[in-house]
Formats: sequence, structure tokens, C-alpha cells
Amino acid sequence: MARKIVVTSGKGGVGKTTIAVYLGVALSKRGERVIVCDADFGLNNADVVAGVENLVTYDIVDVIEGRCRAEQALVRHPDYGNLYLLASRSAPERYISPQSFKLALERLAPKYDYILIDCPAGVDEGFHRAVAVADEAIVVTTPHLPALRDADKVVTILKSYELNSVSFVVNMLRGELLVVGDSLSPKEIESVLKIPLLGILPETKDLYANELSESSRYFRILANNLLTGKRKFPDVTSKYRGAIGGLRRFFKNGL
Ligand SMILES: Nc1ncnc2c1ncn2[C@@H]1O[C@H](COP(=O)(O)OP(=O)(O)OP(=O)(O)O)[C@@H](O)[C@H]1O
Ligand SMILES: [Mg+2]
Repeated sequence: MARKIVVTSGKGGVGKTTIAVYLGVALSKRGERVIVCDADFGLNNADVVAGVENLVTYDIVDVIEGRCRAEQALVRHPDYGNLYLLASRSAPERYISPQSFKLALERLAPKYDYILIDCPAGVDEGFHRAVAVADEAIVVTTPHLPALRDADKVVTILKSYELNSVSFVVNMLRGELLVVGDSLSPKEIESVLKIPLLGILPETKDLYANELSESSRYFRILANNLLTGKRKFPDVTSKYRGAIGGLRRFFKNGL
């Protein structure tokens, strides 16, 4: 039976879709059968981030409205055989009930290991619909105060749901700022949110460019934490420490 995990944040643009997709990639490479489900019925874009937008025939709205079976709407990723995308569409004219959404995912859950639900930004109807189908939540924040404040609000709202686990990921962390104390640290964020830290992802230019890229290693560590319950975190400041690190900081930021 799949673990149904909503990836949420409150604030927009902090990396929910990126994390849902690439965490899905990393889990699928560990042999897990993974569905990334786009629960954004406004600015849906998980298919684009996964690079499968041209392969989408049916989406979750077709499933809910009975035009196809849930399995038919899954797009198998051409590069990762265990990874499936369940696309969404912009459907402002329709009312999509949490119950119908939940029913569609429950039909799929027995045959998969993970369903990662890509939540829309905000805390209104779309947020509640996405959370209502999940049994766990990953709250994404960046080390910036507006994102942290929204994440904190989301954590409070999530308490009204009976979730098995709520943890958080710090995205877009900048090692060169952290090392000089110019960024909130994951520990500081943890002390505000008062939920466990699941993973750390630095800001990167090579967002999952290939298997050897730095970001792919960070997503592997995140997937391992989720799979095993262990908590291993990459040291994002190491290359900015010492004399060479100081030079790197200088050339990156003029610090
Ligand atoms: N670790 C990272 N390093 C660099 N860029 C990143 C990182 N994570 C996400 N991004 C970039 O940030 C932008 C926003 O990411 P994404 O779309 O995943 O956010 P989102 O939370 O899903 O946004 P929305 O609330 O609009 O759905 C994208 O351009 C993405 O490529
Ligand atoms: Mg998104």
C-alpha cells in the first residue's frame, strides 16, 4: 500500500514541485514504485518539471469525471521505469471534491509504494484537497523569513489533520551565506517549526542535470532519509570553509 505524502509549503515558488518530482526520481531509482500526482488545479506543471508533458493523454480530472481509469491516466517516465506522473489541468470552472480526489488515488495506492502529492501554494481549497488525501506531509521552506512564516502557518493547520508524520525540507540553502551567518540554519528553522528536519537541498545551478550532478546526490540522501527513517544531512558549508573556501565565497558573492 502506497505511502501518500503531500509536499506543501504555503508560500509559492519554494520548490514543492521540484522536490516532489526529483524525490520521486530518487525513490524510483531505489526500486520503489512511485506516482507523482499533481494536485495543483490552477498552475499545474509537474508534467513539465518531469519532462513528460508531451506524453500526457489523460489527467486526474478525466479520472474523477469517469473518462478513463486511474491507471490509464498514469504516464510512465521514459527514463525511470518505476516513476509515474499523474498530471492535472487548470480547471477553474469545475468543483473537484476532496472525496473524489481521494477515491481516485485510493484506487492506485495498493499497487504502488509512494504517491507524492504536489500541493498548490496557499492554504485554501486546493491545499485542503491535497492534504486530505495524504497520510504524511513534507513541508518545504527556504531559509527566508516569508517562506518560514508561511511554513509555520501550514504546520499549525496540518495539526488539524490526523497525519502519521509531518517533517520539513529546507530548500535553496546557500552554503556560502550559512558559513558566515547570513542565512537561517536548518537548526534555527527546526526550532521555529518544531517538527523534524527530513532533508536539506542547496540552491544549485545544475538542478538534476544528470546522475553525477551535485543535486542528484542531495535528492538521493533525502530519499534515503524518507525510506529508512535515518537522518543524514549533507554539509553544504564545507566547500566554503578555510582559505580556499574563503576565495570561493569571494568569487561567488564578494563576501
Ligand atoms: N534547490 C534549488 N536550486 C535552484 N533552483 C531551484 C531549487 N529548487 C527549486 N528551484 C527553482 O525554483 C523555481 C520554483 O520551483 P517550483 O516550481 O518547484 O516551486 P513550487 O513551490 O512548486 O512553486 P508553486 O508554488 O508555484 O507551485 C523553479 O524555477 C525551480 O527550478
Ligand atoms: Mg508547484
